[in-house]
Amino acid sequence: MNTQAQTITFTTENGTTTEPTTTETTITEPKTSDKTLFEQKEASVRSYCRNFPTVFTKAQSATLTDEEGREYIDFLAGAGVMNYGHNNPVIKKAVMDYMLEDGIVQGLDLYTTAKYDFMDTLYKVILEPRGMDYKVTFPGPTGTNAVETALKIARLKTGRQNVIAFTNAFHGMTQGSLALTGNKSKREGAGMPLSGVTRMPFEGYMGEDFDTAAYMDKILGDASGGVDAPAAIIVETIQAEGGLNVATTKWLQDLAKVAKKHGALFIIDDIQVGCGRTGTFFSFEEAGITPDIICLSKSIGGMGLPMSLLLLAPELDVLKPGQHNGTFRGNNLAFVAAKAALDLWQDAEFEKEIKAKSAIVRSYLKSLIKDFPKAGAHLRGRGMLLGISFDDAKIASKISEAAFKRGLVIETSGAEDQVLKLLPPLTITERELVKGLAILKAAMLDVLDPHTTKTTAKKTVRIAKPANDDMVTKTTTITTTKKTTNSDEVIRMAIPTYQAAQQSQELTEHLF
Ligand SMILES: Cc1ncc(COP(=O)(O)O)c(C=O)c1O
Repeated sequence: MNTQAQTITFTTENGTTTEPTTTETTITEPKTSDKTLFEQKEASVRSYCRNFPTVFTKAQSATLTDEEGREYIDFLAGAGVMNYGHNNPVIKKAVMDYMLEDGIVQGLDLYTTAKYDFMDTLYKVILEPRGMDYKVTFPGPTGTNAVETALKIARLKTGRQNVIAFTNAFHGMTQGSLALTGNKSKREGAGMPLSGVTRMPFEGYMGEDFDTAAYMDKILGDASGGVDAPAAIIVETIQAEGGLNVATTKWLQDLAKVAKKHGALFIIDDIQVGCGRTGTFFSFEEAGITPDIICLSKSIGGMGLPMSLLLLAPELDVLKPGQHNGTFRGNNLAFVAAKAALDLWQDAEFEKEIKAKSAIVRSYLKSLIKDFPKAGAHLRGRGMLLGISFDDAKIASKISEAAFKRGLVIETSGAEDQVLKLLPPLTITERELVKGLAILKAAMLDVLDPHTTKTTAKKTVRIAKPANDDMVTKTTTITTTKKTTNSDEVIRMAIPTYQAAQQSQELTEHLF
């Protein structure tokens, strides 16, 4: 085991420093927990567990604990499901109280008090203050259910079949959503042609000087442009899975105009970047646009409970009763959790804190990138969805792997997994954020620092093998190769404090 104590001082951009904080990160040997059952019996399609191969047991705030008691800072947040933190005490209490009172748990779209309370809060806390006039529908528990339903509505309403989606888009894994998705490997999983979609270049895809909204306008307006009139244009304001590609306010406004001009519905897929991820509840608020349909899922379920919803312009309420149906279109536990989560938005401080934290992370990542001038690293993202993209795509995965060994769960995204993607809970504590960022730097040093040395170690580990109910403990000897970093390569962080970030107009201005 190689433990490093790292002294961390926060340094603001105006040079103020705060009390040093000491944190420890550790490179551990391979896990001793037995994953044989998963590896032998769970189908090969399992995915995230391959990158983070331990058996997790508990979670609180932004900290995951595995069955050996090892803690990990969570910069993955259930792929955007845990915006309000793991087992957020307020949300958990609401759910537990509801269960203790024998509240309805089934998932049909019956009228229930839980659903009433959620809808009431959605309108009063989120939609009405923003002057948003929408109907709501609950299409099923996952994000892809929302996207599929949006497609149905767009096609029914317009009588058109074609839908425009973008390069690097990700909208889910069912047939219709997959047709919208760009990723080759994911598309191949369909095993049949994916149709009804025209692909257009996302902003910046053709280079900075190419106006892709103008290109679309031209092609759609040309009787020989070769693109069937679209029922809808569907877009993510930040392509989270696609590599943290950020659409500008101007481009989103132009896109909304193109959609309107050509009779297409404008659909925003806010499944990953809504619910506060960018600093405001909806990711497009700054753009001042009014999408025809908004898809929400992931963190709308409050504490990771499955739920999705669509917000529809009133005239789009075209599905006949039961025309889109399902057993889990009213997850009452999720309604209870979601209501408690939305209540957090009543306090204006909540939004301010997200902005302050994102300013800290942005500033920190900028300084990290400066520390590795030869790494070909670039800052990506917006709000609390930030990351680093690497010219050499392999580096991001290596850092993710090194970070996991030190106790940080962080994933990669992009066509070649070239982007390290930071997606911590919005409610992450300062202590957790500091530790996660420190580990990230240590992991970058592991992978990128030329002074890093390789050593070989022999270690005896206990392997616990569950055989039915009998736990057998074996002792075996393994040889591992690990990397160590000199202790004088201590991480001194150049990030502003929360307080400084909150006060720093400069920081908040370039973020929002
Ligand atoms: C933008 C976007 N849309 C849709 C989905 C699909 O959601 P789900 O995995 O819950 O079906 C995702 C999932 O990552 C997403 O990021």
